[in-house]
Amino acid sequence: MSLKDKIDLNKLPTHIAIIMDGNGRWAKQKGKIRVFGHQHGVKSVRDAAESCAELGVKYLTLYAFSTENWNRPKLEINALMELLVSTINKETKTLNDNDIKLEAIGDLKSLPSSCYRELMNAIEKTKNNKRMTLVLALSYSSRMELVEAMKSIAKDVAAGKINADEIDENTIIQNIYTKDIPDPELLIRTSGEHRISNFLLWQSAYTELYFTDTLWPDFGKEKLYEAIIDFQSRERRFGMTSEQMKR
Ligand code: IPE
Ligand code: IPE
Ligand code: MG
Repeated sequence: MSLKDKIDLNKLPTHIAIIMDGNGRWAKQKGKIRVFGHQHGVKSVRDAAESCAELGVKYLTLYAFSTENWNRPKLEINALMELLVSTINKETKTLNDNDIKLEAIGDLKSLPSSCYRELMNAIEKTKNNKRMTLVLALSYSSRMELVEAMKSIAKDVAAGKINADEIDENTIIQNIYTKDIPDPELLIRTSGEHRISNFLLWQSAYTELYFTDTLWPDFGKEKLYEAIIDFQSRERRFGMTSEQMKR
């Protein structure tokens, strides 16, 4: 029985989020510069998107660039942005062939204009696709997302559109980037780091976390299947007792 066959298709996570980490270390192990790792990471992006779509996962969110990543050396940032433009450009047709819709979350306006344009173009061209939504987190910071949400709610209160006492979880949800996207059930981080790095803090309140030592460029389809199988072996209790869950 292959790993893929061990996956229970009736218990698939609707939304998987991935912190794609370890490109730099992968390159270093091979005696190459960091950018070499990023280039090889693209193959894993393709594998993850393809396997999620094949299985029937509805949303895949990939953390591609954090607001903190702007503090990296200029050379690396430029290479990452160029890679982003060329990849989006090359892959738009594949997205359409596979009925995958592209979306993006983050401070997108802070991206270089060529990047922003390519991204908007691909989002527009794939907007009617239905099989899966691929969400790229770009120039993303979960804290910034929440700060922006709070500002916008404060403005609505000041304008008398809502009453401060009426603010509830749904008000927050309506004001964050992911308002139309369900919370991820499974969050994977590669490269052996055990942290969230400012990713989907609100959205991952009850997400199952999965950490693997595999570096992102080595994270192929089988590694994703392993993560899903592990997820399916867990009991999600949402604060209740195990006995309650079995009823
Ligand atoms: C993840 O790999 C990709 C981005 C953050 C853009 P890293 O570049 O963080 O690789 P490591 O963690 O230094 O190995
Ligand atoms: C998190 O990886 C961001 C992305 C994968 C895009 P980092 O490599 O930037 O995170 P830290 O610095 O190790 O926390
Ligand atoms: Mg890293």
